[in-house]
Amino acid sequence: MAYTYPDKNDRITEDLIRSVSKGDYWKKSEEYVLDLALKEIRELPAPRSMLDLGCGEGRLFQVFAPAVDSIIALEPDSGRCAGAYQSAAALAGHSIMVLNTDSSILMDGQTFDIILSSHVLQHIPPAMCEKMAADMAAHTRPGGLLVLTTTHTDEAGDILTEETMQDGQRQSRRVSPEEFLTLFNREGILPVRLFAENSILELFRSHRFELLLRRRFHYDGAESAAYDQAANEEIYGLSGQGPEGSLPAAKQYTANARDCIYIFRRSE
Ligand SMILES: C[S@@+](CC[C@H](N)C(=O)[O-])C[C@H]1O[C@@H](n2cnc3c(N)ncnc32)[C@H](O)[C@@H]1O
Repeated sequence: MAYTYPDKNDRITEDLIRSVSKGDYWKKSEEYVLDLALKEIRELPAPRSMLDLGCGEGRLFQVFAPAVDSIIALEPDSGRCAGAYQSAAALAGHSIMVLNTDSSILMDGQTFDIILSSHVLQHIPPAMCEKMAADMAAHTRPGGLLVLTTTHTDEAGDILTEETMQDGQRQSRRVSPEEFLTLFNREGILPVRLFAENSILELFRSHRFELLLRRRFHYDGAESAAYDQAANEEIYGLSGQGPEGSLPAAKQYTANARDCIYIFRRSE
């Protein structure tokens, strides 16, 4: 298969991070939500198998390998996959199999205790996103976990954007659903769908995933993960799951969150 992720060397994403985040906040903010995922994963009985669907260069192998017994990592872009082979090789002693492909390689009935989908869904066409959610349901064992990180918008519906670099600077432009479909498979154009929380919840609940926990992260201008924690407590309460339906507006912690983690359990 020939697929090339359009943001070569993550130039667009890294420019975004530079423009909205100070110091090591971006990294610490993600660590804050990945720690929550690790806590849930460690409560599953061992041995634990993980599918990293869209692993990129294997950035998260080092985070999850110590908590699971095996990882199968799929990455359709051959250049990024080469990076993932190296990341796996650097973690000798852990069982990590990297394959240059997508979920079509999985066999009927093949299930994992955990599926990880990190920052993938926002960059694929909506119809493919529906198909990927169905594939995730088919390949998560009942009682297993889906760890999903993706974009976030406070608006009631999803926002579709085109991201590009122009004169060394990232440009983001809102587009219509029709135009969004024309942005795929074009080098240097990164389609980004910002998900309203209810659209993620509806999609995955329709595939028999129950929400265990959600937390927003990557707040514009925040300086430490303590901000994230306080902001999430304000929105969702201490349980982290929050009320159903529309959420109360943030009163004190009003910065815009770029991303959200959703941890779902596949119904038995
Ligand atoms: C933003 S990167 C995230 C990489 C990695 N998960 C991480 O968090 O560092 C999105 C990745 O999804 C991959 N991708 C795109 N379409 C995919 C598909 N249909 N199935 C699996 N991965 C896909 C891209 O090639 C790219 O490496």
